[in-house]
Amino acid sequence: MTDAEKSPANRTPGRRIIIAIDGPAGAGKSTVARCLARRFGLLNLETGAMYRAFALKALRLGIALDATAPLEQLAAETTLRLEAGEQENRVLLDGEDVTGLIRNPQVTDAASRVSALPSIRTWMVRQQQELGAQGGVVMEGRDIGTVVFPEAEVKIFLDAAPEVRGMRRFEQMGPEATAQPEEVIRDLRARDERDRNRAESPLKPAPDAVLLDSTHLTLDEVVQKAEAIVASRIGELTAG
Ligand code: DC
Repeated sequence: MTDAEKSPANRTPGRRIIIAIDGPAGAGKSTVARCLARRFGLLNLETGAMYRAFALKALRLGIALDATAPLEQLAAETTLRLEAGEQENRVLLDGEDVTGLIRNPQVTDAASRVSALPSIRTWMVRQQQELGAQGGVVMEGRDIGTVVFPEAEVKIFLDAAPEVRGMRRFEQMGPEATAQPEEVIRDLRARDERDRNRAESPLKPAPDAVLLDSTHLTLDEVVQKAEAIVASRIGELTAG
């Protein structure tokens, strides 16, 4: 038996556990998801990376980011793969490792645009459901608890004030930051606006999600709280 199989998270009766982590950009989802995956012996899947890789392909080919039919055609010809890594997922776009190419501002903006298209979401959601079908995963995104896995055993919605999220993003950029903090906060607000107000699966907490606001918490504190939420839920499932 592997360590992951011995983990309490994987001894839940029925299929293995699914943890859904949703929330806006900069709320700390990636750090929390990574730490939960490590602590409970689960696979960490970052669904945003899939939207980003697809957006990169559209940008490379010069396809307009609101051109539904050409983007649907592109999706039909695209293979995306996510592989677990120590720090982040490795993302393979048609077999090419694009992990290092999808975190820049242009791709970030493009991902937010293509993710607003209903048919692209349907295509992505189906792939994400296949990836997580066996359980044993922490899946991070915007619609995991509401659309991709509404039956997930644990749902956490992470949020924080936009100024705090923007400053965290700015600090992550380090000394090479090319934008001012105000610009980072402005871009993040614009992306939030789009993610929260799109017609198809807008960003919102599932009715049964636990809300975790990290505005006044350090990332270590957020991780501790998230671990406690998961441990308590696993306790309930094991007891029940
Ligand atoms: O989490 P991220 O910043 O890597 O996500 C990139 C974009 O993809 C973001 O603007 C929202 C979108 N996204 C989504 O709509 N649904 C998901 N499950 C994950 C990401």
